[in-house]
Amino acid sequence: DKAGYKHFMAKEIAEQPTVLAGALASYVKDGTIHLPGEGVDFSKMQRLTLVACGTAFYACLTAKYWFEQLARLPVEVDIASEFRYRTPPIPAGTTALFVSQSGETADTLAALRYCAGKADRILSVVNVAESSIARDSDLALPIYAGVEVGVASTKAFTCQLNVLLLLALKAAVDRGEMTRDRQVELLTALNALPGIFNVALDRDAVIRKAARRIAEARDVLFLGRGLMYPLALEGALKLKEISYIHAEAYASGELKHGPIALIDKTVPVVVMAPRDSLFDKTVSNMHEVMARGGKVLLISDAAGAAEAGADVWQTIVLPEVPEVLSPLLYALPAQLLAYHTAIAKGTDVDQPRNLAKSVTVE
Ligand code: F6R
Repeated sequence: DKAGYKHFMAKEIAEQPTVLAGALASYVKDGTIHLPGEGVDFSKMQRLTLVACGTAFYACLTAKYWFEQLARLPVEVDIASEFRYRTPPIPAGTTALFVSQSGETADTLAALRYCAGKADRILSVVNVAESSIARDSDLALPIYAGVEVGVASTKAFTCQLNVLLLLALKAAVDRGEMTRDRQVELLTALNALPGIFNVALDRDAVIRKAARRIAEARDVLFLGRGLMYPLALEGALKLKEISYIHAEAYASGELKHGPIALIDKTVPVVVMAPRDSLFDKTVSNMHEVMARGGKVLLISDAAGAAEAGADVWQTIVLPEVPEVLSPLLYALPAQLLAYHTAIAKGTDVDQPRNLAKSVTVE
């Protein structure tokens, strides 16, 4: 049931404030993070290995930044289809964590089974609680996104990020890297995020306008730095999946190592950059793009938009949030941009060609 929306994808994008609030209510009580079952103690963990495919992999990549920066926990992250055939050594003290919306992705399941008996513990972050990946792990952490029908993952991504962030915040306190007060502060900010999601969803008109121009492009680049790099990858994946436009994401700092050769006035460049600690660096990359005639679509906050200058082609202005929470918020404009571009092109948003919701073949 599309509940009055034209597509499941639109419905699932719009549901994010509600599902995030519900997921938070299940995990956070009285300012404390509660994990199911016997929980997870990060204090003695030596290494965390995160494995997934596609969008779930980008959630893992984001989580690497969180676990390393907030909790000083060494993290390895890999694509399941590479991980499993590389037969990597799993040193003692490793916890392995698998992220999957469906819980049935063949490569992710095989990677999990490879780790069984080698890793100290096998965790999973899943949407479908009754799934093979959930069953085969020592502890399954549900994301509570509800049924996701659209082939392009949207609400599952933000809900995966939510659980991974909660784990990182717990790890930070378990390992003595963050005070309880700071954790409570961030949990309070996280609780306010569903309301802020609504503000982001209200940017629909400006995103639709930008999407009409993006729809004319043959190639689109996405740039991001730090926490915004995985988001740039996710934005590019979403766009190519449903609009069939060739989209590529780069870490902003990699631009001059090759991809800048692609820039001309026909290539829109989506820059995802809240006014955070890395903003100045990204702005200088953005100016390199504009100096070569590149059309920049900047996704930022008011302070970032003001500093970026007048040469930016279009700006999507989002509310300001603490830096660690930005990936959840910036997922929304990325999803809406892909959605409206696909609508402008007239492609089949919910059933994109060649794609299946659950990839149970290798
Ligand atoms: C992208 C998308 C896919 C999945 C990937 C993993 O929008 O939906 O990239 O994220 O196939 O699927 P799960 O999470 O079910 O393991």
